Amino acid sequence: MKPYVSWLALIVLVFWQDGMAQLLDGNCIVSLRFRIAGGHNTPQGTTPWMALISNATHHDLCGGTLIHSRFILTAAHCIKDNKQLFVRLGLYDRSCPASRCTEVANFNVIKSISHPQFDFLYFKNDIGILKLDRQVVYNARIRPICIFLGDEFNSLSIHNFSAYGWGETNRGSLSSVLQTIHLSRREGKCDFIDLDSETQICAGDDKGDTCTGDSGGPLVANITYGRYVHRTQIGIDSFGSTYCNSNGVYTNVWSFRQWIKDTIWEESLLDKDCSDTRLKSGSIRQPWAVYILPSYAKGALITKRFVLTVAINLPADIQKIKVAALGGETFSVVSVHNHPQFTDDRILTNNIALLKLDKSVQSSDFFAPICFSSRLQKSVNTLTFLTVFIRSWEYLGLKQENATIVDRKTCGITIQMTVEDNQICVNKTSADFNSNGEIFGVDDRLNHKFILHGIKSFHKNGVVILTNIQSYADWIRKIVDVN
Ligand SMILES: *[C@@H]1O[C@H](CO)[C@@H](O)[C@H](O)[C@H]1NC(C)=O
Ligand SMILES: *[C@@H]1O[C@H](CO)[C@@H](O)[C@H](O)[C@H]1NC(C)=O
Ligand SMILES: *[C@@H]1O[C@H](CO)[C@@H](O)[C@H](O)[C@H]1NC(C)=O
Ligand SMILES: *[C@@H]1O[C@H](CO)[C@@H](O)[C@H](O)[C@H]1NC(C)=O
Ligand SMILES: *[C@@H]1O[C@H](CO)[C@@H](O)[C@H](O)[C@H]1NC(C)=O
Repeated sequence: MKPYVSWLALIVLVFWQDGMAQLLDGNCIVSLRFRIAGGHNTPQGTTPWMALISNATHHDLCGGTLIHSRFILTAAHCIKDNKQLFVRLGLYDRSCPASRCTEVANFNVIKSISHPQFDFLYFKNDIGILKLDRQVVYNARIRPICIFLGDEFNSLSIHNFSAYGWGETNRGSLSSVLQTIHLSRREGKCDFIDLDSETQICAGDDKGDTCTGDSGGPLVANITYGRYVHRTQIGIDSFGSTYCNSNGVYTNVWSFRQWIKDTIWEESLLDKDCSDTRLKSGSIRQPWAVYILPSYAKGALITKRFVLTVAINLPADIQKIKVAALGGETFSVVSVHNHPQFTDDRILTNNIALLKLDKSVQSSDFFAPICFSSRLQKSVNTLTFLTVFIRSWEYLGLKQENATIVDRKTCGITIQMTVEDNQICVNKTSADFNSNGEIFGVDDRLNHKFILHGIKSFHKNGVVILTNIQSYADWIRKIVDVN
């Protein structure tokens, strides 16, 4: 980043009406008040979303931003031609040795996704997402930046930004310490490129410019809405003039919000071919549903090879277990994975099991895995009800019913036992949620998917206790990957 002369920070507030927030990751960085940055170095600790991307020979290539617990946003041109990429988070000073800067976390990139219409010649659709090898644990030094997904938000109204990067400084080499600069929107000033006003932003300043090495880094605005200031990513550093002395082109993040959301959603699913819930006719179905014999517990196909059900009442002899799909097909089981801490006591702790089928299921309209995403799912704490499929004698088909979530404390009083974090309590309505292993989830009408959240463990005194599948996401992933 090359400042032309020294400058003083300006504080810009963009006011946003309440109730419009639709954030990609609700844990993103917000603050109640401002600090003023003066000078070129970014104050340490104010950019916990900043990522540095390097290649296999330890060359630092580009900046990026943490936007979700497993995903980095950057420019597509940073990804192109690089087979193996690495990401550092929590980083401020690039030259700080690992022994001293222990807060820095290193990740391998397991998948690089460039926008399918990225055009290297004209730098159109210069946006990409990196999937990290594991989930990022948020702390004071590592936290995602906000990305507004709502249609109401429009970044065209935002004129002042901060840009961040470890890019080239006036001295011509990459900077060791993260740099920042204030930029403003410059309509019609990026004439070195045929600017697409929908998807690209031209920004610059009389006092400095972003430069080589800043690519992929963010253009950030402070968006006030509600009582909080949201550090919000507006652009991605894409393309600039050779000498870093005029204006630069930034990818307009908001115009790619649907692609970002869809990509992360898809990458977070346990099985990407998971089933749609609705047929074109609008009728509902549950092609993942299975019965476990001989117990008649219910279960759900969660990958093409594994069925999820409750651990209770499974025969010790796996020869005796059969999995029956609703369409009539029956499978033998080659291994049973009860949760290692399952206890057959009154509260049935960790009542969850995975069954490996003797063969992979050929996904079809009638038999296909349920959707389960451990990353994008709303936490149960923010949900008020879960949906369950019940057989309706009126329609001779399926219908859905909403079961109200009862808070753990009230539920505990009702059943006179302590309800644990890894359990969900729902009110037993008129429906007959009588089978163990009954599947509860969220009907995502927008994506035509039904997202698994819980399976029935037992019922008592008018409430149903479910095993909270989200709490077991890592355990499930491990078994499914290893076996
Ligand atoms: C890493 O990037 C540097 C600088 O662009 C390049 O010279 C080097 O060949 C790259 N290494 C790999 C493994 O691609
Ligand atoms: C953006 O900053 C400029 C100074 O660089 C200031 O004159 C202008 O009012 C600011 N715009 C907004 C919308 O706050
Ligand atoms: C936004 O706020 C941060 C402090 O929280 C400040 O460092 C930065 O300069 C501000 N950016 C803009 C564009 O006003
Ligand atoms: C369940 O709740 C959703 C959202 O409030 C609603 O659209 C749906 O109609 C409800 N379904 C039933 C069967 O009540
Ligand atoms: C369950 O719902 C019924 C009927 O709406 C209500 O009377 C009861 O208090 C609810 N139970 C709990 C534990 O919330």
